[in-house]
Amino acid sequence: MLPMKITHVVAEIYPLAAVGGYSKVVEALTEKQSEESTVNVITPYYSTIPSAIKRRISDIVSVSIKDNGEIMIIEYAILKVSKNKTIFLIHNKDYYQYRTNVYGYTDDANRWAYLSYSALKLVEAGIIETDIIHTHDWHTGILQNFKDQYFPNLNISIVFTIHNLKFQAMFDHRSSDLQNYDKYQGLYDYKSTQLQKLNFLKRAIKYADRCVFVSKGYMDEVLSGINDELLLPILTKQKKNLSYVLNGVDQAFNPLDCNIYSKYDKHTFVKKNQNKEFLQKKLKLIVSNQVALICFVGRLTEQKGISLLIEILPVILRNSNAQFVLLGGGDSNYLPRLREIEKEFKGRVYIYGKSDFDIAPQVFASSDLCLVPSIFEPCGIVPMEAQIFGCEPIVHSTGGLKDTTIDYNLDKLKATGFVFKNNDKDNFVFIISQALELYQNKSEWQKIVTNAMSQDFSWDKSALEYMKIYYLH
Ligand code: GLC
Repeated sequence: MLPMKITHVVAEIYPLAAVGGYSKVVEALTEKQSEESTVNVITPYYSTIPSAIKRRISDIVSVSIKDNGEIMIIEYAILKVSKNKTIFLIHNKDYYQYRTNVYGYTDDANRWAYLSYSALKLVEAGIIETDIIHTHDWHTGILQNFKDQYFPNLNISIVFTIHNLKFQAMFDHRSSDLQNYDKYQGLYDYKSTQLQKLNFLKRAIKYADRCVFVSKGYMDEVLSGINDELLLPILTKQKKNLSYVLNGVDQAFNPLDCNIYSKYDKHTFVKKNQNKEFLQKKLKLIVSNQVALICFVGRLTEQKGISLLIEILPVILRNSNAQFVLLGGGDSNYLPRLREIEKEFKGRVYIYGKSDFDIAPQVFASSDLCLVPSIFEPCGIVPMEAQIFGCEPIVHSTGGLKDTTIDYNLDKLKATGFVFKNNDKDNFVFIISQALELYQNKSEWQKIVTNAMSQDFSWDKSALEYMKIYYLH
């Protein structure tokens, strides 16, 4: 396909800012796209960008651009990532530099609106040349509405990726009154506090040229009224503008290229044992490669099914000799109970209590099973990453999770993991017990591991799907 000029507008891109899985998706997708196309990324200049990266960022440039008869000054710096990939960091002391977090401020609507508006201004002024604009999640949702209303002559289409419908605006759409839920009346400039009453995500769905879900499973679920977060009416209306593209995993994320104790591939996966022993020693767990090591990697949030995890963990640990490692930060309310379990099963449980993308490869490389009991999941990168490392996922049958794991109980020959239907304690315990039993059957286990490690989760196919979508518009 012919190369294009592509511009992403995002709140997060790994490793500059990484709160959730979406930052890694943006990083990997833009890497893949830049192999052939010219890729720009527009994102805030956070003060929290790691200092090794900061050193490579240019000085701040200031441009004056006509705006409604006035002059708007936009400041930005440039990070040249590679020949074809450039990150434009929008500089604004009040909105980004003076903040220690990416999200969670009372003026978030204005902070994201400013990012969206500046991005459109830079494109309109020709400072950033592009054939297509690609936005992500509610933070950049108002961009499509701004373009429609304030940039009528800007002939560039917008593709909007829905990573999660749960977050739509600054208010909780499930408990807000109708006026707040947004009937599309009015639009305000990026400084107006009225913006806080608008539903950015809903407006993106209305005004984007195409909306892309991150898995077929999630799209189908949502269009049948499950996990639709009250958006079924607008989604049904816009049905012809909807597509899905399954996320991929960065091609460097594999047990040969990542920084792990003992590198391996599907032919040498027995080296997982060396990795397991290494991690067990490091975390002061009982050292044994005979016991199954189970992991959970992900954010500590309700969405990820942490309550269920906490409920079943003691049962599993009491009834087996398995070990458990949790790598993830987020809602610290979960931590005290997790620490109790860690104490009760000393030498068998380790809770990192923070997320760390650098440690994740070693955890996957050492573990045999990965638990993913998400209540809902638009895509879910973790089970894909786990499979690449020959760590078998046990996933709840929801959204994208059911698209990426082939269930042992459905197809024993092709199985890459386990899928459980009803997200309750009994079902979850049952399926983990089944997996632990199977783990003892080395030849059967080897088959599942090999299947998992043979899956293609690269961005090749998915990046091409996005190109096809860009070309349609
Ligand atoms: C969000 C979703 C997750 C998805 C990720 C990347 O974090 O909750 O399911 O994998 O975005 O698209």
